[in-house]
Parts: sequence; C-alpha cells; structure tokens
Amino acid sequence: MSALLLAFDDEWPLAERLAAALGWPLQAVQRHRFPDGETRLRLPPRLPARVALLRGLQQPNAKLTELWLAAAGARELGAVQLALVSPYLAYMRQDIAFTPGEVVSQRHVGSLLAQAFECVITIDPHLHRVRSMDEVVPGRRGVALSAAPLLGAWIAAQVPGALLVAPDEEAEQWVASAARAQGLPYLVAHKQRLGDHEVRVSLPHADVAGRAAVLLDDVASTGRTLVDAAKALRARGAASVDVAVTHGLFVGDALASLQAAGVREVWSSDSVPHASNCVSVAPLLARALADWAEG
Ligand code: R5P
Repeated sequence: MSALLLAFDDEWPLAERLAAALGWPLQAVQRHRFPDGETRLRLPPRLPARVALLRGLQQPNAKLTELWLAAAGARELGAVQLALVSPYLAYMRQDIAFTPGEVVSQRHVGSLLAQAFECVITIDPHLHRVRSMDEVVPGRRGVALSAAPLLGAWIAAQVPGALLVAPDEEAEQWVASAARAQGLPYLVAHKQRLGDHEVRVSLPHADVAGRAAVLLDDVASTGRTLVDAAKALRARGAASVDVAVTHGLFVGDALASLQAAGVREVWSSDSVPHASNCVSVAPLLARALADWAEG
C-alpha cells in the first residue's frame, strides 16, 4: 500500500526530517484563513490509501477544527487508513473533573480524534490517571513515545555528571528513565499548583550544593514550574541549573522568567518548533509510523 506524509507549513522542518527518515513522499496541506476566522484547506487532489498527517497541537483550538476538516477531506480524496502524528498532544492534562461540573477534555478530545483517525501517535503525553494512549483513543491504535532517553543522552553529553531533577512527582517517570540510561543521579521535587501562573516547588532533603542540576520535564508552558524549581535549586547552592523539556511551549514571558531565575541553558526536542530545539524526535516518529504501515 503506497503511503504519503502530509504536513502544514509551520511544521515543515520536522516534516522533512520525518519524511526523510521514513522514505515517504511529503506534501503540504495548504491553508487559507478568511477574514472572518474560517479556514479553507487544500489537500493534494489524489491521495494514496495510507496517509499520515503531522500536526502538533500546541495552541490547539483552531488546529482541532483543521484536523477534523483535513481528515474528512483526505478520506474523500482516497485515504483509507489515516494516522495522526501529533508530537505534542494538547488537552491531555484535564483527565478528571477536578471540581464538580468540569468537562474532562482528555476524554472528549480523545474520542473526537478516534472518530477521525485509525491511529494516533504522540510523544510524552500527559497520561497520569489513564494508563495508555489506547484508552485515550478508544477502539483505535494509540502510540505514546518518549523523548526522555534522547534528552537524557543530550544532557549527559552537555553536563557530564549532572544531577537530574524532576520538578514534580509526575515527571519522575521521565527523569528516572533518563537517569537510569545515562547512569546519572536524580531527585524528585514536590509541586503544588496554586494557579495558572503560580506554583510552589519544594526539594527533598538532598545535597545539591555545588552540583550541576538539570531539570527535566515533559512540557514547559508558562515555565512557572521550572522557574520555581530553579529558584529552589539555586537557593540550595546548585552550581548551575539547566532545563530540558520534551515540549517547549514557552508561552508569554516563560523564557525571560527562566533566565531571571538563573537558568543557564534551555533545551527542548523538536516536537514543538522552537529556538531551544536540540534533539529530533523524527527517528522515533518514523519507527512508529513504519510499524503502523506494516501492521
Ligand atoms: C504538569 O504537571 C506538567 O508536567 C508540567 O510540569 C506543567 O504542565 C508545566 O506547566 P507550566 O510551565 O505552566 O508550569
């Protein structure tokens, strides 16, 4: 079955790396935004039976509409098997109703994606109360990859002997696997989120004075989690604090706040295009797509 990768212009560098790793042709989804906010999409007029669409869901709301339109349009143009490759999958954090009446976005975005795609592939999704991506996209194939080993190797090369730090308990899974693979020590901090821009991070009783600490997390959004953790590490006498995340959303003043908190380097994977990208997830994604195409 012949296959094609489709991508949008704002994710083209990753799309090219992914197509090259797969050996698949790559074509663009063209997009026009009308003055009233509606979107017109244009796909290649003839599609093969197997199509993968690359679309990260950073700043997700308009993109969800585009995904819905692109998937429906692709089927009319010949696609039979559709995979969504969404390196950053939004709406995964609201996985329970934290207060009565809250809509559980993860469940509903997941079921929307399951209606449109046979397979959804993502990286380090925020799955804490749900065990797997298969549960997020019921009845479909869900694949969760991790960039933590890539970031771990990058950190070990940049900061030999680094002390890896998880800024909260949820990040322990990524930090522990990177630390094990690189033979590095790690510790896990405790986080309390008080609001969108307010978090409190406390470090465990461990000696960080004089250590080169590297914070590793799945996502930096406002950056406040990392900022507070960096401040705590600095206050305990860490010699340096660097930051590595799979998904660098860095909204608003996140980067400036990290700098102001004494963070030296900021690294991210190319799951979200950003100046801090230092490792590519293309080979990971290519292996998962090749498996889907074979199976
Ligand atoms: C949540 O637990 C995640 O792992 C991140 O720590 C969090 O989403 C980061 O958000 P922010 O950068 O806004 O603090």
